[in-house]
Amino acid sequence: MDNILRGKNILLGITGGIAAYKAADLTSKLIRLGAKVKVIMTPSATKFVHPLTFQSLTENRVYLDVFGATETYEIGHISLAKWADLFVIAPATANIIGKAAAGIADDLLSTTMLSMEAKTVFAPAMNTVMYGKPVLQDNIKKLKEWGFGFIPPGKGRLACGDWGEGKLADVGIIIQHIEYHLSSKKDMEGLKVLVTAGPTHEAIDPVRYITNPSSGKMGYSIAASCIMRGAEVDLVTGPTNLEPPINARVYKTDSAIDMYNTVLKIFDRVDMVFMTAAVADYRVKETASKKIKKTDDSLILELVRNPDILRELGKRKRRQVLIGFAAETHDLENHAIGKLESKNLDFILGNDVSSDESGFGSDLNRGVLFIRGEGSVPIPMMNKKEFAHRIIDEVMKRIR
Ligand code: CTP
Repeated sequence: MDNILRGKNILLGITGGIAAYKAADLTSKLIRLGAKVKVIMTPSATKFVHPLTFQSLTENRVYLDVFGATETYEIGHISLAKWADLFVIAPATANIIGKAAAGIADDLLSTTMLSMEAKTVFAPAMNTVMYGKPVLQDNIKKLKEWGFGFIPPGKGRLACGDWGEGKLADVGIIIQHIEYHLSSKKDMEGLKVLVTAGPTHEAIDPVRYITNPSSGKMGYSIAASCIMRGAEVDLVTGPTNLEPPINARVYKTDSAIDMYNTVLKIFDRVDMVFMTAAVADYRVKETASKKIKKTDDSLILELVRNPDILRELGKRKRRQVLIGFAAETHDLENHAIGKLESKNLDFILGNDVSSDESGFGSDLNRGVLFIRGEGSVPIPMMNKKEFAHRIIDEVMKRIR
């Protein structure tokens, strides 16, 4: 499965709120991901951002009013509605949500919405008190029942100075929702998937720990891809700076022992495990309860072995499909196959982390997927999102 957005027609509706400027970033990212974007702005949106911004980003004219929507004989709102694979309204004000719920069509944006056959998805952004008003929440409830999509707003400091719910969702989150609505391949529907991601922190004292450079990107991409494909996902993550994928059940863990305990609690109820976490093999035997002061010229720490989470899952597995990840700097094939067999796995992705372009921290990856009793499939260099889908494609081919 390739980049879902490539070649898709996204109609972006921008309504009048301060978050309208963030729609420029959204537009730019959608285009970079290969989507075609056309923009409708309400008159109040144009007070916040000039249409020229969107005209330049999309290399298309910006649609502003019902009677000037096309230069040709076509009826503007109808042709825009027919063109779109998805209508995304970001930011969506309380006003446009109210109009949608009441069936009011009094400008190009609301008229187009009423003519849409494709799905409409709102990304609300407004003051927190407005967002909490029963009328607005009722409208959202009603629209959801009618099949409209909603991207929940974030919490934080709002433009008006208030704190609370109502911030436009982060652009990365909006894009994930768009991908979710556009992805038609739901081959993981009904599957429960556990994904582990990121590094672990093994404490030395209250202010220091041992870790590794894993960013968590590979695991988060796997989790997001499984969600796109309809799976129910538990994401057990070590400390990372990443925004969790939409709709994942997230468990934040710290040390290998913490991750081990969390994974074992979930394991019995899942069908598949992607163990991408870079779990520390050793921890400090005795963590100091107070900050260690530098008194001597050298400091010796005694390390003891951590449990091997995946090996334990290999022992306990019944129906579960186990996918391991082996980050190697040399002799990839021998090491990866050795782990596939000794940990009782079904698949292992061998990763060469000696290259700067792929592996830890990078947005790119390449590797070789070793399959129990079958041999291997090389996966060439690509971004981690596409890489995740390629691994899942190979796994799904063999289990369904
Ligand atoms: N793994 C695990 N628990 C550990 C260590 C590793 O569950 N304590 C999992 C990793 O998440 C990965 C797989 O085992 O899916 C292989 O990890 P890797 O670090 O490559 O292998 P190790 O078994 O730790 O062997 P070594 O470090 O000696 O290469």
